[in-house]
Amino acid sequence: MTEKTSALNKKDTSWSGRFNEPVAELVKKYTASIGFDYRLAMVDIQGSIAHAQMLSACGIISAADFKAIQQGLAEIKQEIEAGQFEWLLDLEDVHLNIEKRLTDKIGDAGKRLHTGRSRNDQVATDVRLWLRDTTDQVIAGVHQLQTSLLDLAETHFDTVMPGFTHLQVAQPVTFGHHLMAYVEMLKRDAARFADCRKRINRLPLGAAALAGTSYPIDREMVAKTLGFDGVCENSLDAVSDRDFAIEFTFAASLVMTHLSRLSEELILWSSPRYAFVDIADRFCTGSSIMPQKKNPDVPELVRGKTGRVYGHLTALLTLMKGQPLAYNKDNQEDKEPLFDTADTLLVTLQIYADMMRGITVNKENMRQAASEGFATATDLADYLVKKGMPFRDAHEAVALAVRYAVDHHCDLSDLPLATLQQFASEIADDVYAVLTLEGSLHSRDHIGGTAPAQVKAAIARARKALE
Ligand code: ARG
Repeated sequence: MTEKTSALNKKDTSWSGRFNEPVAELVKKYTASIGFDYRLAMVDIQGSIAHAQMLSACGIISAADFKAIQQGLAEIKQEIEAGQFEWLLDLEDVHLNIEKRLTDKIGDAGKRLHTGRSRNDQVATDVRLWLRDTTDQVIAGVHQLQTSLLDLAETHFDTVMPGFTHLQVAQPVTFGHHLMAYVEMLKRDAARFADCRKRINRLPLGAAALAGTSYPIDREMVAKTLGFDGVCENSLDAVSDRDFAIEFTFAASLVMTHLSRLSEELILWSSPRYAFVDIADRFCTGSSIMPQKKNPDVPELVRGKTGRVYGHLTALLTLMKGQPLAYNKDNQEDKEPLFDTADTLLVTLQIYADMMRGITVNKENMRQAASEGFATATDLADYLVKKGMPFRDAHEAVALAVRYAVDHHCDLSDLPLATLQQFASEIADDVYAVLTLEGSLHSRDHIGGTAPAQVKAAIARARKALE
C-alpha cells in the first residue's frame, strides 16, 4: 500500500465514523418531500380508498379490512382538514405519513392497503388527480377573465384607438377589437387545457413499482371509481413519465405569455405619455419617495411572474430528459414547479379578471392619438384603388401626400381638395369621408375586421361559446 492510498483509506473510515449520524439527518431532509407533497393528501386518500375497494372486490383483502381502511382514512381526512394531523419528516412523504397513521389506528388492515401497489404508481395517480382538478379550476379562471374582457370590450365596441405595428400608429381600430384579440388568445388557452386534461385523466395505479402486479387486480374498476377516462396502458410509462405535467406547465406558460403582453400594453397605456387608460387604485402602489407616482404593480408583476412560470417549464423538461425508464427519485422534483405554476397561474387569472373590471378609458386621448399618426393613409390608398388606380401607384401617391402633410404639420384630412388632387387627380370631395376615423373603422366590415358591427358580433359569438 502506498502512503497515499493508506491515508485515503484511513480518511474513509474516519469519515464514516465521524459523519454517519449527522449526514444521515441531512440526507433525510434532502430526500423527504413531505414539506411540499402534503398538498396531495386529499387525493392520496381518495386514491387509497378506491384501491382498497378494488382489492376487496377482487377478493385480495377482506370486506372487513376494506371497511376498516375506509373508516380509518375518513378519520385521517378529518384530522388533516382540522389541522390536527402531525406530518413527520421521518416518514418522508405524504404517502408514508398517511399509511403509518392508518396502521396506528387500525392495525393489520392498514398494513394490507399497500398490497399490489407501489408508491411509484401511487404518486403518479395522486399528481394526476390533483392536476385534473387544478386544470378544471384553471379553465374556469380563464373563462372568468374572458368574461371580464368581454364586458369591457362591449362598453368600447366603437371606441377609437390607434392600432399599432412596430409600436407606430398604423390604422385606427376600436378598443373593443383590441381587447377581443386577447379573448381569442384565451379561447385557445382554455382549449389547450381541455385537451391536456384528456391526457392527464388516465390511471397509473396497477403499474405498481414498474412491471405491474401478480395480484388479480381490476384496474378498470379503479379508473371508473376515480373518474379516469381509462388506464395508462404501459406500466413502465405509467410510473415514469410526467409529460402531462409538462404539458400543463407549457399551457400555463402560454397563458402567462398572453397576459404578459397585455400587461405590457397596460403599463404603456397607463403611463402619462399615453394616458389611454387608468388602472383602478387598488391594483397600483405609490412610490415611497416620489409623491406623484402611481405604479402599475400588478401588470408589472404578471410580466415578471411569466418568467417564473417559464422557469418551471424548463425545470420540468430538464427533469425528464436524462431519466432512464422507469421511476427515478428525480420525479419527486416535479411537484414544486408544478404546484407553483398552478398557484401563480390561478391567482394571476383571478386578479386579472378583477383588474380589467377596474380599467377606465380616456376616449379623448385614444382618439387624439389615432388622429395624429396618419392612421387613415391606407384608407386613402384603398380609395384610389377603388377609383381604378393600381395599388402600388396609389401607395406611392399617398406616401407623397403624407410627406407633404408632415412638412406642413397637419393631417391628411386638413389638406384642401386642390392640394390632395396634386397627388392624384382621381381624388374628389367624397375623399373626406374616407379620411375620417369612423369611415376607416366602418369600412373594415367583415369577420375578423375592426368595424364596430363586427366587434359586436364577435362579442356575441364569444359570449355564446362561454355559455
Ligand atoms: N415521494 C416520492 C415522489 O414524490 C414518492 C415515490 C417514491 N418512490 C420511490 N421508489 N422512492 O416521487
